[in-house]
Amino acid sequence: MKFVLKIGGSLLNYRESLNKLCNVLGKLAAKYKMLIVPGGGDFADLVRSIDKIFGLSPLASHRMAILAMDQYGILLADITPNSTIIHTLNDVEKVWETEKLPILLPSRLLFTSDELPSSWDVTSDTISAYIAKLLRIEKLILVKDVDGIFTRDPKKYSEAILLEEVTPEELIDMRTCVDAFLPKFLLLRKGMFCYVVNGLYPERVKQILEGKKTIATIIKA
Ligand SMILES: Nc1ncnc2c1ncn2[C@@H]1O[C@H](COP(=O)(O)OP(=O)(O)O)[C@@H](O)[C@H]1O
Ligand SMILES: [Mg+2]
Repeated sequence: MKFVLKIGGSLLNYRESLNKLCNVLGKLAAKYKMLIVPGGGDFADLVRSIDKIFGLSPLASHRMAILAMDQYGILLADITPNSTIIHTLNDVEKVWETEKLPILLPSRLLFTSDELPSSWDVTSDTISAYIAKLLRIEKLILVKDVDGIFTRDPKKYSEAILLEEVTPEELIDMRTCVDAFLPKFLLLRKGMFCYVVNGLYPERVKQILEGKKTIATIIKA
């Protein structure tokens, strides 16, 4: 079984937990074939605010945001033992053969072959799903700082309820912790399983890799 894991930028706010998660993932690489795709985090937020000031073209801000993912990827590689930075999908299998953990810096790939629209609706959530599609990997794990997708933002509404399973159709009209384009993208990707899980609890990520039930949301396409 192969997995694409997107490590969300929200985890940048939790240094110790992110270090712990990266340590766990580095060790698990000997057992599971995982590709790490970085989120954008603070690096992408900076691009967002500069875009607001300058009114950049959609392509320019899209590409700057992708470079933000590269930056976070370099950080992740720095704190993940047993990891290797890669720039192309051809290198994924080669790194897996050495039981190391590949971390993709996506700019080289996406600057040459990006079929996604240049829009702030497309963030690293959709980009990681796109990369999973290119690799024909059916399991995508979005690792964030929340337990999964809730009925409303759980940080603002204590009555929000965790959804264990949702369909892309149901997500289309909801504002959640996944980007606005992902539900549309997943609608066309039958057979794909997208998990949203809390990276502050690395054991939950491990349970998904092991095929066990855990606290998370599954988006079944
Ligand atoms: N319906 C929702 N369910 C879960 N989280 C939500 C929802 N609406 C908003 N959020 C917020 O989304 C945040 C996670 O999304 P985001 O910061 O984009 O993650 P990342 O960039 O790390 O992938 C959470 O911290 C949470 O406060
Ligand atoms: Mg996000």
